[in-house]
Amino acid sequence: MSDVILDARDICRDFPTPAGPVHVLCDVTLQVARTRLTMLRGPSGSGKTTLLNLLGGLDTPSSGRICLEDQEISSASEARRDRTRRRSMGFVFQSVALIASMSAFENVDFALRVAGFDRRKRARRAEECLAQVGLQARMHHRPHELSGGEQQRVAIARAIAHRPRVVFADEPTAELDTAMGLQIVRLFRALIQSDGVTIVMTTHDTGMMELADVVFALEDGRIARA
Ligand SMILES: Nc1ncnc2c1ncn2[C@@H]1O[C@H](COP(=O)(O)OP(=O)(O)OP(=O)(O)O)[C@@H](O)[C@H]1O
Ligand SMILES: [Mg+2]
Repeated sequence: MSDVILDARDICRDFPTPAGPVHVLCDVTLQVARTRLTMLRGPSGSGKTTLLNLLGGLDTPSSGRICLEDQEISSASEARRDRTRRRSMGFVFQSVALIASMSAFENVDFALRVAGFDRRKRARRAEECLAQVGLQARMHHRPHELSGGEQQRVAIARAIAHRPRVVFADEPTAELDTAMGLQIVRLFRALIQSDGVTIVMTTHDTGMMELADVVFALEDGRIARA
Protein backbone atom coordinates (compact mmCIF):
# COMPACT_ATOMS: atom_id res chain seq x y z
CA MET A 1 0.00 0.00 0.00
CA SER A 2 1.31 3.43 -0.89
CA ASP A 3 2.29 5.75 1.95
CA VAL A 4 0.32 8.52 0.28
CA ILE A 5 -3.41 8.55 0.91
CA LEU A 6 -4.25 11.93 -0.66
CA ASP A 7 -2.43 13.35 -3.61
CA ALA A 8 -3.17 16.93 -4.73
CA ARG A 9 -1.49 18.24 -7.88
CA ASP A 10 -1.44 21.80 -9.21
CA ILE A 11 -4.60 22.82 -7.42
CA CYS A 12 -6.10 26.22 -8.17
CA ARG A 13 -9.34 27.49 -6.71
CA ASP A 14 -10.88 30.71 -8.01
CA PHE A 15 -14.11 32.16 -6.69
CA PRO A 16 -16.12 34.32 -9.05
CA THR A 17 -17.11 37.67 -7.56
CA PRO A 18 -18.81 40.71 -9.14
CA ALA A 19 -15.38 42.37 -9.23
CA GLY A 20 -13.90 39.41 -11.13
CA PRO A 21 -12.44 36.08 -10.00
CA VAL A 22 -10.56 35.86 -6.70
CA HIS A 23 -7.59 33.49 -6.94
CA VAL A 24 -7.62 31.84 -3.54
CA LEU A 25 -5.34 28.85 -4.18
CA CYS A 26 -2.60 28.76 -6.82
CA ASP A 27 -0.61 25.72 -7.94
CA VAL A 28 -0.88 23.85 -4.68
CA THR A 29 0.76 20.43 -4.81
CA LEU A 30 0.94 18.28 -1.71
CA GLN A 31 0.75 14.70 -0.58
CA VAL A 32 -0.87 13.55 2.64
CA ALA A 33 0.90 10.62 4.29
CA ARG A 34 -1.21 7.70 5.48
CA THR A 35 -1.70 7.27 9.25
CA ARG A 36 0.00 10.57 9.99
CA LEU A 37 -1.09 13.85 11.54
CA THR A 38 -0.76 16.58 8.91
CA MET A 39 -1.33 20.23 9.79
CA LEU A 40 -2.06 23.14 7.45
CA ARG A 41 -0.97 26.45 8.87
CA GLY A 42 -0.97 30.00 7.63
CA PRO A 43 -2.40 33.44 8.37
CA SER A 44 -6.11 34.16 8.25
CA GLY A 45 -7.26 34.29 4.64
CA SER A 46 -4.31 32.25 3.31
CA GLY A 47 -6.61 29.48 2.05
CA LYS A 48 -6.46 26.77 4.75
CA THR A 49 -10.20 26.10 4.93
CA THR A 50 -10.50 26.26 1.15
CA LEU A 51 -7.75 23.64 0.78
CA LEU A 52 -9.17 21.40 3.52
CA ASN A 53 -12.60 21.50 1.85
CA LEU A 54 -11.03 20.48 -1.48
CA LEU A 55 -9.07 17.60 0.06
CA GLY A 56 -12.24 16.43 1.80
CA GLY A 57 -14.29 16.55 -1.40
CA LEU A 58 -16.63 19.22 -0.04
CA ASP A 59 -15.60 21.48 -2.92
CA THR A 60 -13.95 21.00 -6.32
CA PRO A 61 -10.86 22.81 -7.64
CA SER A 62 -10.99 25.19 -10.60
CA SER A 63 -8.06 23.23 -12.01
CA GLY A 64 -5.75 20.47 -10.86
CA ARG A 65 -6.32 16.96 -9.59
CA ILE A 66 -6.98 15.43 -6.18
CA CYS A 67 -6.87 11.67 -5.66
CA LEU A 68 -7.90 9.68 -2.60
CA GLU A 69 -5.81 6.55 -3.06
CA ASP A 70 -6.51 5.57 -6.66
CA GLN A 71 -9.79 7.44 -6.94
CA GLU A 72 -9.88 10.92 -8.42
CA ILE A 73 -12.27 12.96 -6.32
CA SER A 74 -11.71 16.35 -7.94
CA SER A 75 -13.62 15.42 -11.11
CA ALA A 76 -16.13 12.99 -9.56
CA SER A 77 -19.85 13.74 -9.67
CA GLU A 78 -21.47 15.28 -6.63
CA ALA A 79 -23.20 11.96 -5.87
CA ARG A 80 -19.97 10.01 -6.04
CA ARG A 81 -18.11 12.50 -3.86
CA ASP A 82 -20.96 12.36 -1.41
CA ARG A 83 -20.66 8.56 -1.23
CA THR A 84 -16.90 8.74 -0.79
CA ARG A 85 -17.24 11.30 1.97
CA ARG A 86 -19.81 9.26 3.83
CA ARG A 87 -17.81 6.07 3.58
CA SER A 88 -14.23 7.22 3.92
CA MET A 89 -14.12 10.63 5.53
CA GLY A 90 -14.97 12.26 8.83
CA PHE A 91 -15.22 15.98 9.58
CA VAL A 92 -14.66 18.08 12.72
CA PHE A 93 -15.29 21.82 12.61
CA GLN A 94 -14.21 24.75 14.76
CA SER A 95 -17.64 25.35 16.21
CA VAL A 96 -18.76 21.95 17.24
CA ALA A 97 -22.29 21.76 15.78
CA LEU A 98 -23.65 18.97 17.97
CA ILE A 99 -27.42 18.58 18.05
CA ALA A 100 -28.37 20.44 21.24
CA SER A 101 -31.41 18.34 22.12
CA MET A 102 -29.48 15.06 21.91
CA SER A 103 -27.09 13.52 24.45
CA ALA A 104 -23.50 12.74 23.50
CA PHE A 105 -24.52 9.12 22.88
CA GLU A 106 -27.48 10.14 20.72
CA ASN A 107 -25.34 12.51 18.66
CA VAL A 108 -22.90 9.72 17.77
CA ASP A 109 -25.69 7.17 17.34
CA PHE A 110 -27.48 9.54 14.96
CA ALA A 111 -24.37 9.93 12.78
CA LEU A 112 -24.11 6.13 12.60
CA ARG A 113 -27.75 5.88 11.58
CA VAL A 114 -27.12 8.34 8.76
CA ALA A 115 -24.12 6.21 7.74
CA GLY A 116 -26.43 3.17 7.52
CA PHE A 117 -25.32 1.15 10.58
CA ASP A 118 -27.98 -1.12 12.07
CA ARG A 119 -29.38 -0.36 15.51
CA ARG A 120 -27.52 -2.94 17.60
CA LYS A 121 -24.14 -2.27 16.04
CA ARG A 122 -24.80 1.43 16.41
CA ALA A 123 -25.20 1.39 20.18
CA ARG A 124 -22.05 -0.65 20.69
CA ARG A 125 -19.99 1.45 18.32
CA ALA A 126 -21.26 4.77 19.76
CA GLU A 127 -20.28 3.65 23.27
CA GLU A 128 -16.93 2.42 22.05
CA CYS A 129 -16.09 5.74 20.37
CA LEU A 130 -17.20 7.83 23.34
CA ALA A 131 -15.02 5.64 25.57
CA GLN A 132 -12.11 6.18 23.17
CA VAL A 133 -12.38 9.94 23.60
CA GLY A 134 -12.65 9.52 27.39
CA LEU A 135 -16.32 10.36 27.77
CA GLN A 136 -17.88 7.10 28.91
CA ALA A 137 -19.01 8.77 32.15
CA ARG A 138 -20.58 11.71 30.29
CA MET A 139 -22.28 9.76 27.55
CA HIS A 140 -25.82 10.71 28.50
CA HIS A 141 -25.11 14.40 28.98
CA ARG A 142 -26.39 16.94 26.50
CA PRO A 143 -23.95 19.40 24.89
CA HIS A 144 -24.83 22.27 27.27
CA GLU A 145 -23.86 20.02 30.19
CA LEU A 146 -20.38 19.49 28.74
CA SER A 147 -17.30 21.73 28.60
CA GLY A 148 -16.01 23.07 25.26
CA GLY A 149 -13.28 20.43 25.17
CA GLU A 150 -15.73 17.67 26.01
CA GLN A 151 -18.08 18.84 23.25
CA GLN A 152 -15.20 18.82 20.81
CA ARG A 153 -14.41 15.24 21.91
CA VAL A 154 -18.01 14.22 21.20
CA ALA A 155 -17.63 15.78 17.75
CA ILE A 156 -14.46 13.70 17.25
CA ALA A 157 -16.23 10.52 18.42
CA ARG A 158 -18.95 11.32 15.89
CA ALA A 159 -16.41 11.93 13.11
CA ILE A 160 -14.60 8.60 13.65
CA ALA A 161 -17.62 6.40 14.44
CA HIS A 162 -18.15 5.09 10.89
CA ARG A 163 -14.43 4.20 10.69
CA PRO A 164 -13.36 6.73 8.05
CA ARG A 165 -9.92 6.50 6.52
CA VAL A 166 -9.28 10.24 6.73
CA VAL A 167 -10.51 12.76 9.31
CA PHE A 168 -10.45 16.47 8.39
CA ALA A 169 -10.55 18.99 11.21
CA ASP A 170 -10.83 22.74 10.57
CA GLU A 171 -9.35 24.67 13.52
CA PRO A 172 -10.59 22.05 16.02
CA THR A 173 -8.72 23.73 18.87
CA ALA A 174 -9.41 27.39 18.08
CA GLU A 175 -12.16 27.79 20.65
CA LEU A 176 -10.36 25.89 23.39
CA ASP A 177 -7.73 26.98 25.89
CA THR A 178 -4.19 25.69 25.32
CA ALA A 179 -4.47 22.74 27.70
CA MET A 180 -7.70 21.51 26.13
CA GLY A 181 -6.37 22.14 22.65
CA LEU A 182 -3.33 20.00 23.39
CA GLN A 183 -5.60 17.30 24.77
CA ILE A 184 -7.49 17.23 21.46
CA VAL A 185 -4.30 16.95 19.42
CA ARG A 186 -3.01 14.18 21.71
CA LEU A 187 -6.33 12.41 21.21
CA PHE A 188 -5.78 12.65 17.44
CA ARG A 189 -2.37 11.04 17.88
CA ALA A 190 -3.89 8.24 19.98
CA LEU A 191 -6.58 7.61 17.32
CA ILE A 192 -3.92 7.38 14.63
CA GLN A 193 -2.16 4.72 16.72
CA SER A 194 -5.24 2.73 17.69
CA ASP A 195 -7.36 2.99 14.53
CA GLY A 196 -4.83 3.75 11.80
CA VAL A 197 -6.71 6.83 10.63
CA THR A 198 -5.09 9.71 8.78
CA ILE A 199 -5.79 13.19 10.13
CA VAL A 200 -5.51 16.53 8.36
CA MET A 201 -6.18 19.64 10.42
CA THR A 202 -5.77 23.38 10.10
CA THR A 203 -4.40 25.51 12.90
CA HIS A 204 -3.07 28.95 13.76
CA ASP A 205 -1.45 27.71 16.91
CA THR A 206 2.32 27.15 16.79
CA GLY A 207 2.11 25.17 20.07
CA MET A 208 -0.02 22.54 18.35
CA MET A 209 2.31 22.25 15.37
CA GLU A 210 4.98 20.58 17.48
CA LEU A 211 2.72 17.56 17.67
CA ALA A 212 2.31 17.24 13.89
CA ASP A 213 4.12 14.69 11.75
CA VAL A 214 4.00 17.02 8.75
CA VAL A 215 3.22 20.75 8.52
CA PHE A 216 2.38 22.60 5.29
CA ALA A 217 2.49 26.38 5.46
CA LEU A 218 0.16 28.38 3.23
CA GLU A 219 0.94 31.94 2.23
CA ASP A 220 -1.44 33.83 -0.05
CA GLY A 221 -2.85 30.65 -1.48
CA ARG A 222 0.47 28.94 -2.15
CA ILE A 223 2.50 26.38 -0.24
CA ALA A 224 5.44 28.27 1.22
CA ARG A 225 8.88 26.72 0.87
CA ALA A 226 10.13 25.27 4.15
N1 LIG B 1 -16.92 31.52 -1.63
C1 LIG B 1 -15.97 32.45 -1.69
N2 LIG B 1 -16.07 33.50 -2.52
C2 LIG B 1 -15.10 34.44 -2.59
N3 LIG B 1 -13.98 34.41 -1.84
C3 LIG B 1 -13.84 33.40 -0.97
C4 LIG B 1 -14.81 32.38 -0.84
N4 LIG B 1 -14.39 31.50 0.12
C5 LIG B 1 -13.21 31.97 0.54
N5 LIG B 1 -12.87 33.11 -0.10
C6 LIG B 1 -11.65 33.92 0.12
O1 LIG B 1 -10.55 33.05 0.06
C7 LIG B 1 -9.54 33.43 0.97
C8 LIG B 1 -9.14 32.22 1.82
O2 LIG B 1 -10.23 31.84 2.64
P1 LIG B 1 -10.10 30.64 3.67
O3 LIG B 1 -11.39 30.55 4.38
O4 LIG B 1 -9.64 29.42 2.95
O5 LIG B 1 -8.92 31.16 4.61
P2 LIG B 1 -8.33 30.53 5.94
O6 LIG B 1 -6.86 30.39 5.74
O7 LIG B 1 -9.09 29.32 6.32
O8 LIG B 1 -8.58 31.71 6.98
P3 LIG B 1 -8.97 31.62 8.56
O9 LIG B 1 -7.67 31.34 9.25
O10 LIG B 1 -9.46 33.02 8.83
O11 LIG B 1 -9.99 30.57 8.74
C9 LIG B 1 -10.10 34.58 1.76
O12 LIG B 1 -9.57 35.77 1.26
C10 LIG B 1 -11.59 34.51 1.50
O13 LIG B 1 -12.18 35.78 1.51
MG1 LIG C 1 -10.35 28.87 7.93
